[in-house]
Order: sequence, then C-alpha cells, then structure tokens
Amino acid sequence: MKGKFITVEGCEGVGKSTQLRLLKDFFEREGIDALFTREPGGTPVAERIREILLDKKLSVSPIIEAELFAVARNEHINNLIKPALEEGKVVICDRYIDSSLAYQGVARNLGIDRVYDINSYARDNCMPDLTIFIDMDPAHSWRKQRGTVILNDRMEGESNEFHALCYKGFKEMCKREPHRIVAIVPSEDKNATHEAIVNEIKKKGIVC
Ligand code: TYD
Repeated sequence: MKGKFITVEGCEGVGKSTQLRLLKDFFEREGIDALFTREPGGTPVAERIREILLDKKLSVSPIIEAELFAVARNEHINNLIKPALEEGKVVICDRYIDSSLAYQGVARNLGIDRVYDINSYARDNCMPDLTIFIDMDPAHSWRKQRGTVILNDRMEGESNEFHALCYKGFKEMCKREPHRIVAIVPSEDKNATHEAIVNEIKKKGIVC
C-alpha cells in the first residue's frame, strides 16, 4: 500500500474528537492528502450498521455485537480505507480494531483472542501503521471532571465498571503491541496533546 494508516483510540470523554479536529486542521495546513473517517461507519452501509449498534432501544448479545462491528469494518476497509491507501493517502480513523478488542474482547468478556479471530477476515490484513491511544482513565475523563453526563448511545449508557474494563483492554493492547500502539497521556492543554500526537506521526515517518 502506498498510503499510511493511523487510528486513534481511547475511552469516552477523553478528548478524542477534539484531537481529531486538531489533526484535521494540521493535515490541511500541511497540504497533505488525508482521509478522515470513523468506526463504526465510514460508508453508507457501515453507517447503517452503526445505527443498529448504537441504538439505545436495541439489545444485542456480545457475540452479535462483535460480529456486527467486524462486518461494518470489512465493508469500511474494502470500500473506503483500502482504496484510499492504494491512492497513497494518509487515512486517519476514529476508532478501529482496538476498540473491538477493548470493548467486546475485555468489557463484554469475549476475550481478546476470540475478538481478534472474529476480525481476522474482517480486517483483511489491514492493520494500522500507527495507533494513537489517548491514555486517560474514563473515571477521571475531562467529561467526568466537567460533570457533563452524555448518554447519547448504547455504549455511553454502560456502567462505570464497563468503561473501566474498556480502559483495561486498551492498556492490555498497549502491552501486546508496543510497536504499533503509542499511548499519549493527555494534558489539560489540548495543543500540547496535539503536538505530542504530531510528534509520534513524524517519528513514524508518516509526515516530515
Ligand atoms: P462514538 O459516538 O463514535 O463514540 P466516541 O465519540 O466515544 O468515539 O460511538 C462509538 C462507540 O462504539 C463507542 O462507545 C465505542 C464503541 N465501539 C465498540 O464497542 N467496538 C468497536 O469495534 C468500535 C469501532 C466502537
């Protein structure tokens, strides 16, 4: 593949969206052809699967949940991510396989290995060149510190224990794949966090 693939991961309310916005501005300023996308979603079909997955009124078993995230991922990879990488673009994806490993593998207790297996077909050998993990315990997230409670979707409505397990899952993935995943502890200064992220992207040689 000519392009480079970056994913951004983290628990709820830790400033991931803010950092993605800053990254988008950065790539635009640098004049680098970058595609920003998200999971679950990114294509019309995957966005429809997202609606099912995040609908508070629906309940799905952990295994069906993991399978649906994987199916949406496969659709996204084949119809958006791979074509963009083949064109030489930098693809930046808001969440990817590590969210499945943390949320479904650890928090839903399916096991990291089982969720990896479920995703082996889905990801079609497409693994990120770099994963930025925003390393903040959801119990102390910026959102919690501000006291804002947002229960927009099915995942956000889960218990504190569930989100603590997601965090544990991400930490486990950092240990398992230290060459791919870089943990960045966010500071209160969002620009400082942004600079730390850009540094990691530069270190990987994705931008100069
Ligand atoms: P989203 O609103 O995009 O969350 P955020 O703004 O926090 O990124 O919703 C995506 C939710 O889906 C989020 O709670 C994480 C969850 N998720 C999984 O459980 N497994 C996955 O594989 C992915 C990609 C996301």
